[in-house]
Amino acid sequence: MGRVTVSNIDKAAAVLRAGGLVALPTETVYGLGANAEDPTAVSRIFQVKGRPPTHPLIVHIAGAEHLDGWVKEVPAAARLLAEHFWPGPLTLVLRRGARVPLEATGGLQTVAVRVPDHPIALALLKVFGGGITAPSANRFGSVSPTAADDVRAELGDAVDFVLDGGPCEVGVESTIVDVTGDTPAILRPGGVTCENLEAVLGHPLTVPAASHVRVPGQHPSHYAPRARVVLVEPEEVIAEAERASGAGQQVGVFLPAGSPDASVKAHAVVAVPASVAAYARGLYGFLRELDQKGCDLIVASLPAEEGLGLAIANRLRRAAGPRSTV
Ligand code: TXA
Ligand code: MG
Repeated sequence: MGRVTVSNIDKAAAVLRAGGLVALPTETVYGLGANAEDPTAVSRIFQVKGRPPTHPLIVHIAGAEHLDGWVKEVPAAARLLAEHFWPGPLTLVLRRGARVPLEATGGLQTVAVRVPDHPIALALLKVFGGGITAPSANRFGSVSPTAADDVRAELGDAVDFVLDGGPCEVGVESTIVDVTGDTPAILRPGGVTCENLEAVLGHPLTVPAASHVRVPGQHPSHYAPRARVVLVEPEEVIAEAERASGAGQQVGVFLPAGSPDASVKAHAVVAVPASVAAYARGLYGFLRELDQKGCDLIVASLPAEEGLGLAIANRLRRAAGPRSTV
């Protein structure tokens, strides 16, 4: 950090007020922000990302005390979760309030809201004074940026101003919880673990069904590097990587923590950190690194699906999903 000054935050707020797009750091990933109440600016986000207009955005606000107007009502479960996890990597889906244009919700009568836990994002929200709609600052379907340089590489001049807040601490996106129904439901695993949510709510939550390794067709690709991603069991990673290398592919390997200390015969190797928090923090950077090294195949395995491992496994499955042509 240190590269962001008060005048940079003022400038970013001015860009937002003028209908421009600002890339901003959050604790999860960098966002591509626009004034949530400016439908033209919001539409530009979709153009720049190449994102289908029906794919709703998250509105970022400065604190739970600012929910009025952005949402119609705050059910008890939402209030409880906001109290415990905001600011933080938790997004709540609530009924849409009058301040939210339909452009931001893809036409839905619900809206996703979160309070990011990053000093620069919070400072910008306070100076700007309104809500900022921000998806991850990457082209639709590709790897989310976890550093300002990733944003510049991904979006270049398409973004009017980049606030550099250093590398993101959490590294995977927020957990999305729908609190519009009778019981809260997790829509996307992320930076707040299912176990932590359940501890606060006092009951188990449903998590979107997970498919098994190598089952194609259920997870259209998203969070995906240019290289193809194949998932195998941890003990098969080395053999699979060497088989594909032998067949002439430029193979990148996610070597599972605790693998035998073998020197893998492959183009590039990432040693997966033993700590799941470090793995989450590094995940998107590892995928970008293997792309930059010219890999055409990445061989990886899934971590245990508990704690942050659930979000990592979700992103790896999506990265390995069938590539769509839309
Ligand atoms: O950590 C994050 O959540 C990051 C940072 C920048 O805040 N943002 C992010 O945004 O991941 P994006 O646009 O990449 O993902 C937003 C997700 C999408 O999967 C979208 O479908 C879901 O939020 N979403 C948004 N509004 C929704 C709604 N009303 N109902 C259900 N899902 C919604
Ligand atoms: Mg995204």
